Amino acid sequence: MRMVDVIQKKRDGEALSKEEIEFFVDGYTDGSIRDYQASAFLMATYFSDMNAEEQGYLTMAMANSGDQIDLSAIEGIKVDKHSTGGVGDTTTLILAPLVAACGVPVAKMSGRGLGHTGGTLDKLEAIEGFHVEITEKEFVKQVNDLKLAVIGQSGNLTPADKKLYALRDVTATVDSIPLIASSIMSKKIAAGADAIVLDVKTGDGAFMKTPEDAEELARSMVAIGNEVGRHTIAVISDMSQPLGFAIGNALEVKEAIETLKGTGPDDLTELCLVLGSKMLIAGGKAKDTNDARSQLKRVIEDGSALELFGQFLQAQGGNADIVKNPDLLPNAAFQIEVKSTTTGFITKMEADEIGVAAMLLGAGRATKEDDIDLAVGIVLKKKIGDSVKSGETLAIVHSNQPEIVKTESMLLKHIHISQHKPKRPKLIHKILD
Ligand code: URA
Ligand code: CA
Repeated sequence: MRMVDVIQKKRDGEALSKEEIEFFVDGYTDGSIRDYQASAFLMATYFSDMNAEEQGYLTMAMANSGDQIDLSAIEGIKVDKHSTGGVGDTTTLILAPLVAACGVPVAKMSGRGLGHTGGTLDKLEAIEGFHVEITEKEFVKQVNDLKLAVIGQSGNLTPADKKLYALRDVTATVDSIPLIASSIMSKKIAAGADAIVLDVKTGDGAFMKTPEDAEELARSMVAIGNEVGRHTIAVISDMSQPLGFAIGNALEVKEAIETLKGTGPDDLTELCLVLGSKMLIAGGKAKDTNDARSQLKRVIEDGSALELFGQFLQAQGGNADIVKNPDLLPNAAFQIEVKSTTTGFITKMEADEIGVAAMLLGAGRATKEDDIDLAVGIVLKKKIGDSVKSGETLAIVHSNQPEIVKTESMLLKHIHISQHKPKRPKLIHKILD
């Protein structure tokens, strides 16, 4: 087989065979196919698209390109959740103990994040002593015992995706739906998921700005999952404003604890109930949405989800006392109120810009080498649709610097206030199952 023929076929809009796609992925991973041909292939795919079968082949070829986690020693259906990323998204920290308390095994592999705040792993590391450097054997045992464990990302998971993602970044081929969908799904499959619940975000703070684009991406991922025999469900949810109130690592752990107690923000709680229901159904633990929601609400009300969160932290070396006393988490030196200069209604909260404001405080990384400050961030006091008076607090900035002029001006600029009461954004746009 010659790569030039594969490129030409894709350029001319023809569908590629499994062998052709494997030839490309294997050759690019081992270096026998070079960047210039891979770049041409990516651009051809960008313009010519791929059908569901091709996307399935690409996904599996990338999933098979490196290590795969074998979770077969874990009893039950392993359901993973993936979010396409947003601002202040604390759902994983809540969902993991929530569905585990209902009996669905959660075997989570987690990495550090680039972006407004850290990834789930960074957030967990805000808890003193907590670590994810456990062996695969310990990981499996803990999931069987407790139903919940988190392990750090293996060094050689989906190397083909790593290489291709870096190449896409510099060849203007990141925003191609078949390439995004196969990239995300390959990682979930290599990490051992039997079933996958996708939270595809849409809005200002998301990768996919419109619900139509988000739905197209979601449909592709659901089709890939079904094509390769992994039950996949997608929820398209709002990211036109930050999720919940807290943006920042320790601040989001506190918000997760509040939500597990039943006293969290409405939007975050509802999204966790929607995603959690799909996870319980996919995991074979609930017969329908009503059954799932009542189980999830029960483990919140009776305290068992929070208790399990504490047991999980303790099992991985973390200080479980934070569950009862969240003030033990890192605290910033200064908590400074940002006050509204006008009276009216919140009409818009530019999630991405508010995320950047949190990142500039030190809550997130711009490059892989950056350190993050686990204590800092922003706690919103208002959401879209709320009324506000001049002089009233819009947000509290948690900073390790006394001076927050830049953060304050960003917040005042990107939280829009007008005289007309707007409609609150719809939290769930669509569910594909
Ligand atoms: N996230 C991924 O993992 N891959 C993409 O291609 C885009 C977003
Ligand atoms: Ca939040």
